[in-house]
Amino acid sequence: MAQSNDALWGGRFATGPSDAMAALSKSTHFDWRLALYDLRGTAAHVKALHKAELLTDEELAVLEKAIRELSKRVEAGSFRPKPEEEDVHAALERGLIEIAGIEAGAKVRAGRSRNDQIATLIRLYMLDAADALESLLLDYIDALSSKAEEYMGVSMAGRTHLQHAQPILLSHHLAAHAWPQVRNLQRIEDFRKRAKKSPYGSAALAGNSFGMDVEMIAQELGFSSTTENSLDATSSRDLVAEFSFILSLIAIDLSRFADEIIAWATIDFGYLKLSDEFSTGSSMMPQKKNPDVAELARGKAGRVIGNLTGLLATLKALPLAYNRDLQEDKEPLFDSVDSLALLMPAFTGMVRTMEFNRSKLETTATDGYSLATDVAEWLVKSG
Ligand code: ARG
Repeated sequence: MAQSNDALWGGRFATGPSDAMAALSKSTHFDWRLALYDLRGTAAHVKALHKAELLTDEELAVLEKAIRELSKRVEAGSFRPKPEEEDVHAALERGLIEIAGIEAGAKVRAGRSRNDQIATLIRLYMLDAADALESLLLDYIDALSSKAEEYMGVSMAGRTHLQHAQPILLSHHLAAHAWPQVRNLQRIEDFRKRAKKSPYGSAALAGNSFGMDVEMIAQELGFSSTTENSLDATSSRDLVAEFSFILSLIAIDLSRFADEIIAWATIDFGYLKLSDEFSTGSSMMPQKKNPDVAELARGKAGRVIGNLTGLLATLKALPLAYNRDLQEDKEPLFDSVDSLALLMPAFTGMVRTMEFNRSKLETTATDGYSLATDVAEWLVKSG
């Protein structure tokens, strides 16, 4: 059954989309999390429309008040998209018209497209996600360095090929898990420079002729400048891929320590004990303490890598400019961000509360052949 068509693009269409088409097209169930960014974009947009003399002073005042009111309702959860609404942009336009009235509300559509809107919102979302991720990473790095300090001077067997190689300090090993995350912090910093450009004003693909002040919009939204090319701005998602890659690396680096923790917590290794808070037991085997946090970290790494490779496959060979395929960028990105937001506090908590067995570690530093290199080097020096 076809619905009536009051979609943003429905004017020229005699009937609405079929139910199957509408269901396929719909994105409100995942893009609603961008609603407040959308409203921030609209607030900047109406200022630029006013500056370009497309809105009167009164209309601007009415719209700004309506945007504030709608933002409050969205935050409170009292304004939600309707089932028949296609995306976050359509639902919020309806909301704005409901509050501001059709006269002023309908004018907001001028000079922008959902293509430049979504390209802008995804950047704003990632910039906030980058801030949150940065503090999770800093907390994890702090947990590793506190542990390293707590066990300063404790030696252990360093390994290559998993075989005892040369004695090292546990603190050195723990710091070796911190450094890749420090580099991930640097990657986030570098990503920010590229992401801080505003695509707003690129419209569908080729901008608009209203002479709107896009620099002002960029500033209002906290970007440092505007994008250079409107086709690129609306159709590239390399920044989403880049951010997803950084998320993947973070997860991969966690999974490398996770795998050691899983082994080290076994009775065979006996290097460490996990706290009760960050492990689970077995209903059937009372002696067991399972390293679930570390196992879930390993598992989530696979999932996050999958999100990245799925996105890369979506981007491959897409012609310029915007194609609807690009709607598929959001769920994998959101899933990776959510996965790390869930994983990292637990992983950090596990690291903060783990206890190492000093004497067990120290015996591995001197047993077997760990000292063979030192003996050989001593022989050369004293030769
Ligand atoms: N939901 C779309 C996306 O996520 C928004 C842009 C839609 N543009 C369009 N021309 N249909 O990419």
